[in-house]
Amino acid sequence: MDAKTADILKEKARQAAKRAYCPYSGYAVGAAVLADDGRIYAGCNVENASYSLTMCAERVALFKAVSDGAKKITAVCVYSEGGRMPYPCGACRQALNEFSEGLEVLVSDGKEDVAATLSELLPHGF
Ligand code: THU
Repeated sequence: MDAKTADILKEKARQAAKRAYCPYSGYAVGAAVLADDGRIYAGCNVENASYSLTMCAERVALFKAVSDGAKKITAVCVYSEGGRMPYPCGACRQALNEFSEGLEVLVSDGKEDVAATLSELLPHGF
């Protein structure tokens, strides 16, 4: 993605992280996905007292996009200042794979940005 798109997605993800509901882990994450029609959707992680019900920021953003009619996404930024790089978990990688081709992934901890493709993060995705 170009530098301007990266900046926009990162800022949307940064803002979304402020809305994280994460009283159990204390690890706030924001994500922003870019749909192929140009729309951007942001999400945050939403935890639950029944821990396994927790939903990651990436899937919240992705499902917002799909439920709003987006067919494909082309880029995603995941952002957390929680002290470690917020690389998408395996479940999110597979969920993102369903709605993308050649997805560009930008991961940021607020100090450092790492760019990757989904196929690098999820080789041989189903
Ligand atoms: N989490 C995300 O939302 N995205 C990631 O990329 C990594 C992990 C959330 C899930 C849980 O609420 C918290 O971070 C700790 O795992």
